[in-house]
Amino acid sequence: MRLAIVGVTGMVGREMLKVLEERNFPFTELLPVASKKSCGTIISCLGKEFEVISLDDLLEKKVDVALFSAGGEIAKIWAPKLAAKGCKVIDNSSYWRMHENHKLIVPEINGNALTKEDMIIANPNCSTIQLVMALAPLHKKYGVKRAVVSTYQSISGTGIKAVEQLENEELSLVGEKVYPHPIYKNTLPHCDVFLENDYTKEEMKITNETKKILDNSIAISATAVRVPVDGGHSESVNVTFENDFEIKELKSALASMEGVLVLDDPANNEYPMPINAQGKDDVFVGRIRRDFTQEKTLNMWVVADNLRKGAATNTVQIAEYLLKNNLI
Ligand SMILES: NC(=O)c1ccc[n+]([C@@H]2O[C@H](COP(=O)([O-])OP(=O)(O)OC[C@H]3O[C@@H](n4cnc5c(N)ncnc54)[C@H](OP(=O)(O)O)[C@@H]3O)[C@@H](O)[C@H]2O)c1
Repeated sequence: MRLAIVGVTGMVGREMLKVLEERNFPFTELLPVASKKSCGTIISCLGKEFEVISLDDLLEKKVDVALFSAGGEIAKIWAPKLAAKGCKVIDNSSYWRMHENHKLIVPEINGNALTKEDMIIANPNCSTIQLVMALAPLHKKYGVKRAVVSTYQSISGTGIKAVEQLENEELSLVGEKVYPHPIYKNTLPHCDVFLENDYTKEEMKITNETKKILDNSIAISATAVRVPVDGGHSESVNVTFENDFEIKELKSALASMEGVLVLDDPANNEYPMPINAQGKDDVFVGRIRRDFTQEKTLNMWVVADNLRKGAATNTVQIAEYLLKNNLI
């Protein structure tokens, strides 16, 4: 099992190394890849050291699986080149997600759709993954008709440069800015670029990816907001179902979903928060309550570490799924 990580020096790439270590992923060789400026850097994983190489160098090697987290442009050009050489690519960028012939996978939900023929597999957007993890068991039981989602997304979701912007602003230092406004002591109703329909690309990713993974008939309306939180995305989700529910039963449906943890004890101030989700793989759901203004409608609060289940963990889980089911 020769495993490459493309974008190994980035926020997601570094988290992938940790996830591979923690899960004792059975690679025999690790090929860390980043841009030319990082080539030659030594990174360690599972007690061994590896030298960072370029994509050109990677293409010369025999690779079984490549985990990509280096942006859409790299994925667009390099994923097909590696796939043509028989390498399975699992990509974190948005480039392949909505392509008709490529699957968008959250293993607990639709891993069973994967086949040997899938050479480029897409990992959903971080905000989508935690949303569908909470919606999937409820859709199965009650049929989700419509969901209105407001996100509170951490700066780590934008990448290393955003983390630097917040740190600079906290210390009143001048530096490069990735956001059009200060993020320190602020919230920006603006994640990714604005589209012609006045939604942002992030908001449309949440809408379109959720439909692709769960059910095209679900109506999703999203507002994505960036908050000055280091790591962990939160989402306020208002869901209307086809069928009515009973709260206790609905909570046990959520709790029975692998990878979801219900944390809902308001009397003891217990609810999901990004500060507690950091470094964890679960999706936490709390503040579960009936919307008393609408029939068959629920409010809930969903939190997960965007770098873990929202990116690195889900990618590694897809690779594990391929291995376990002899799809490589
Ligand atoms: N952050 C999140 O929560 C999150 C969640 C889901 C998906 N994603 C997606 O994952 C991808 C990476 O995000 P990130 O937050 O990790 O970004 P990041 O911190 O900015 O890291 C980008 C990585 O890509 C590498 N890279 C850039 N140009 C390259 C090239 N020409 N050849 C090879 N490697 C190159 C960088 O290497 P150098 O260090 O050498 O520049 C770095 O390792 C993006 O597509 C993002 O949308 C991110």
